[in-house]
Amino acid sequence: MNAKDNQETDLKVKTEADKLKLIPVHVMGKRYQVPGALTIMKALEYAGYRFIRGCGCRGGICGACATVYRKPGDYHLYVGLACQTVVEPDMYLAQIPFYPANRASYDFAQLTAEPEEIFKLYPEVFRCIACNSCTKACPMDIPVMDVISAVKQGDIARVAELSFSCIQCGLCVSRCMGELPQYHIAQLARRIYGSKLVPRAQHLAEAVTAARDEKCQKMLGELMKSDIRQLTASYNSREIEPEMAEEDWTPAKRDYL
Ligand code: FES
Repeated sequence: MNAKDNQETDLKVKTEADKLKLIPVHVMGKRYQVPGALTIMKALEYAGYRFIRGCGCRGGICGACATVYRKPGDYHLYVGLACQTVVEPDMYLAQIPFYPANRASYDFAQLTAEPEEIFKLYPEVFRCIACNSCTKACPMDIPVMDVISAVKQGDIARVAELSFSCIQCGLCVSRCMGELPQYHIAQLARRIYGSKLVPRAQHLAEAVTAARDEKCQKMLGELMKSDIRQLTASYNSREIEPEMAEEDWTPAKRDYL
């Protein structure tokens, strides 16, 4: 091993050691020592907390682990996902596993695709003062204020497009001066868009018709009669879409498409 290798190994060891180094954090006012490389969620578990609520996917997808924190000597109130945010020395932490935002109740089948439906159910949308705090709070980098502007402009398709990655964590609501439930409003717009505005996919309509016409019944009946050996053989010899398939790839055998 030469000097450079030694140096690199030292660096690696140091980094690993740093990861294990304990740092102080404050959870709901109580001080704990936790490894500095942990996410807030893992640090809380390391400190002895057990998640019954406020934890789901652990991968930044479900929005269950909203958390608020401050850093020493910093007046800002920070928000983030506990499963994605790494602890920092002397953080002050609190969890908000549920945010009691106003949620309108409605019979979706009775709603039309008109923006007025949203205005009636969520009149508070017009209380937005465009301060942009919601956008700054969003852990998914959604331009939440633009979403609300699109709602006010009645552009439901734009709302659906802009808010597509929303994970419903509620952090936007927690910072809103107008007390809007942005994530519920956007969710309603996405439902309206998906159900009543977006054009129906032709291939899906054909598949539904084929299912109604029991096009696959004969084939399914034969499969039901097969033994495990035949089923395994037919499964292993099935046509599989190549990894780098062209966009218009379809199977050669199209009997059931
Ligand atoms: S646990 Fe699902 S987003 Fe954090």
